[in-house]
This record gives sequence, C-alpha cells and structure tokens, in this order.
Amino acid sequence: MISLNIIGTGNLARNLAHIFHETEGVVLNQVIGRSKAALSPFAKITSTSIDFNAIKESDVSIIAVKDDVIKSVGKKLISYKGLIAHTSGGMHIDVLSSNKNIGVFYPLQTFTTGKPIDFKNIPICIEANGPDGLSLLKALGNTLSTKVENISSHKRKILHLSAVFVNNFTNHLYTIGEEICEEHGLDFDLLKPLILETAEKVVNLSPKEAQTGPARREDQKTLHEHLQLLKENQQREIYKLLSNAIKASYEKKL
Ligand SMILES: NC(=O)c1ccc[n+]([C@@H]2O[C@H](COP(=O)([O-])OP(=O)(O)OC[C@H]3O[C@@H](n4cnc5c(N)ncnc54)[C@H](OP(=O)(O)O)[C@@H]3O)[C@@H](O)[C@H]2O)c1
Repeated sequence: MISLNIIGTGNLARNLAHIFHETEGVVLNQVIGRSKAALSPFAKITSTSIDFNAIKESDVSIIAVKDDVIKSVGKKLISYKGLIAHTSGGMHIDVLSSNKNIGVFYPLQTFTTGKPIDFKNIPICIEANGPDGLSLLKALGNTLSTKVENISSHKRKILHLSAVFVNNFTNHLYTIGEEICEEHGLDFDLLKPLILETAEKVVNLSPKEAQTGPARREDQKTLHEHLQLLKENQQREIYKLLSNAIKASYEKKL
C-alpha cells in the first residue's frame, strides 16, 4: 500500500484526489491547500489542512500547485521525510532541491475540475533523484496507468512545449472559432464533428499529411475573403501567421 498526500486544490489536484481515492493499493492520507473553501470538496474523502507544517508523514507527497510557487511550497515542507514530487511539465526536478527525496510525477494530459478522466492510457512522466524514489513513483504511476515513463527534466520540458502547441494553442483556436460563430449567429456545435475528426485523424496519419484547407491549397481568393471577414486585428494576425506557416511548410523545395 502506498500512502499519499496531495498539496494543492486546483484542476490536477482534484482529478488526482478523485482517481487515487478510488484506486486500490493507494491510500490518500491528506490534502493540503491554502483555503478552507477550496479544501471542502476533498474533506468528503480524506483529511485536509491549511497548515503546511501539519503535513502527515506518507510515502509520497504530490505538489500540484502553480509552477511559479512549487519552490516556495517545497521549502514549507522541509521537515517532511517522504518523497516530494511536483507535477509540472515545464519545471526542472531541481526546483525542489531544498528537499531531500525529490521527484516528478507529470501526467501528460489536460485536466479540468469537474471533468473526471480515465488515467489508464495517460503517459505519466516520472523522474527522481534516487533509485528508491524512482521505484516508488513507478509503482504509484502503475496503479493508474499502463504508460509510466522515466523521462529527464529536459525531455519533459520539450514534451511540455510540444503539448502547448497541440493542446493550449489548438484550444485557443477553438475559442476563436466559437467567437466567430456566435458573432454570426451560428451554432458552434456544427463544428464539433470536425474537431473530433481532426484529432482522430492524427492517430494514424502524420499531421503534415493530414493538413487540408485554403492555405495548403493556396486558394488565394478564399484566403483574402476570410481576412476581410475578420473584424478583430488579433484574429487577422493569427490567421495570416498560421496561413503563412502552413504555406511555407508545403512549399516545394527546388
Ligand atoms: N491542469 C492541467 O491540465 C495540468 C496537466 C499536467 C500538469 N499540470 C501541473 O499541475 C500543477 C497545477 O496545475 P493546475 O492546472 O491544477 O493549476 P490550478 O488549477 O490553477 O491550481 C493551482 C493551485 O496552486 C495553488 N496555489 C497558487 N498559489 C499558491 C501559493 N502561493 N501557495 C500555495 N498554493 C498556491 C492554488 O491555490 P489557491 O486556490 O489557494 O489559489 C491551487 O490549488 C502545475 O504545476 C501544472 O503545470 C497541470
């Protein structure tokens, strides 16, 4: 049995608490956060505290707070003897160097509070500053997922950079698509089969092969008309930047 604390009460902390609470072989000992209000959903399943000094001794404490405060939260837990792991894609393991037994437990997926997710196929990138810590994180990861990988801080940063393109930027483009539909009284739901097929297609096809649309075809008239229809300058800039990037990546090399 692996005993576990979670530090943080946001999107990832909620998802991890939910899944670990239901997972055999793991006992969720405690959740620590800054506010009683944010801790109240966790209080239904485990013990909670707003006092970082009152941390319970457990095998692992997972820090799921915003990247910029991982270091300061780690420093608050100096007396804790177990393994401390952060969950960030972009932060080096050494951000926790004030602590003795440190690691990383980064699930490569997008998490939102209120949207429980199946962890079975989520890659979990682990790293630790010693073999015992690595085995512990591997065992913890294996309780959730079949894809637990030992990945260095540098490689994880690169994966995270790539994830920002495929998830964060793509999602922002959905937001623009939704705004354009709303502006013209159209239902964004009409685009949802296209969104799903776009993602589905790259499971078996390289994104470069899968690309369609006016920029790839160099349909100048359509490109020009789309730009005319966009009222917001920022939307026009994004349209031009992405269309030019698509065109450039299909230009024939002489
Ligand atoms: N969400 C994802 O899709 C995802 C995926 C993989 C990894 N991660 C990683 O998971 C970590 C948490 O991300 P998230 O999306 O769950 O963030 P989030 O929903 O914004 O939650 C951030 C948490 O950080 C806490 N926090 C902020 N400032 C703090 C401080 N000064 N001291 C203590 N706690 C503080 C917040 O507490 P308050 O509520 O009190 O402000 C909240 O509990 C990040 O390192 C992120 O890179 C996230």
